Amino acid sequence: MAKQTWKPGNMLYPVPAVMVSCQREGGKPNIITVAWAGTICSDPAMLSISVRKNRYSYDIIKETKEFVVNLTTKQLCRATDYCGVRSGRDVDKFQEMHLTPQPSEKVKAPGIAESLVNIECRVTQVLELGTHDMFLAEVVAVRVDDDYMDEKGRFDLNAADLVTYSHGEYFTLGKKLGTFGYSVAKNKPQSIAGNNPKHKSKSSTKKGVKAKGRSGKHTRKEKGKA
Ligand SMILES: Cc1cc2nc3c(=O)[nH]c(=O)nc-3n(C[C@H](O)[C@H](O)[C@H](O)COP(=O)(O)O)c2cc1C
Repeated sequence: MAKQTWKPGNMLYPVPAVMVSCQREGGKPNIITVAWAGTICSDPAMLSISVRKNRYSYDIIKETKEFVVNLTTKQLCRATDYCGVRSGRDVDKFQEMHLTPQPSEKVKAPGIAESLVNIECRVTQVLELGTHDMFLAEVVAVRVDDDYMDEKGRFDLNAADLVTYSHGEYFTLGKKLGTFGYSVAKNKPQSIAGNNPKHKSKSSTKKGVKAKGRSGKHTRKEKGKA
């Protein structure tokens, strides 16, 4: 495989594109789209967002030490892009995108009612990295949409047309290729794709493998923890 060497740059894709909501006390609520976001610790549950100092949201988050990460779906994709190209200095993004600020449980910053997962965060550290400051934050509450809970109390997140961002473009998730640990599973021949020559990749298009991955229901406990 012939390769080119490029100068250093950001090429870690795909990444989530999340809508981060924030608000000063008495101020208007705002939303900033963030793709430089990640899970950074399991216990305590922590995540990070990296934000440029010149963003309207930057000072709000720095001062209030709070924000809410709202997961994005196909239905929210246009709003996600809009909140990433317009500033709260100039527009009311909730109003423009017909979104509803939703009171949070543990922080004063509102979530976005139309998002199926609202992750309430409290900033614990700010790292000055260069162009971006990285806000390390503890997750203090997670709110999920009842519509995606089944009768057994499992949350079917992957049925929700989640949006991912890769190299300048937005996508929904593609076909399910396996579940955590499937490469070594002995009893369940559930391997669908991969580099094992015994497994033909065609099988991933078999009937019964639903594009939305509904068969991949899992509880938080069953999920792989890094
Ligand atoms: C897909 C996408 C991802 C983005 N990711 C980031 C990011 O990780 N950090 C950041 O500072 N800005 C990011 N931006 C840019 C901000 O969202 C954008 O400058 C926004 O207008 C800032 O809003 P504000 O001024 O209301 O805070 C992203 C924009 C888009 C469209």
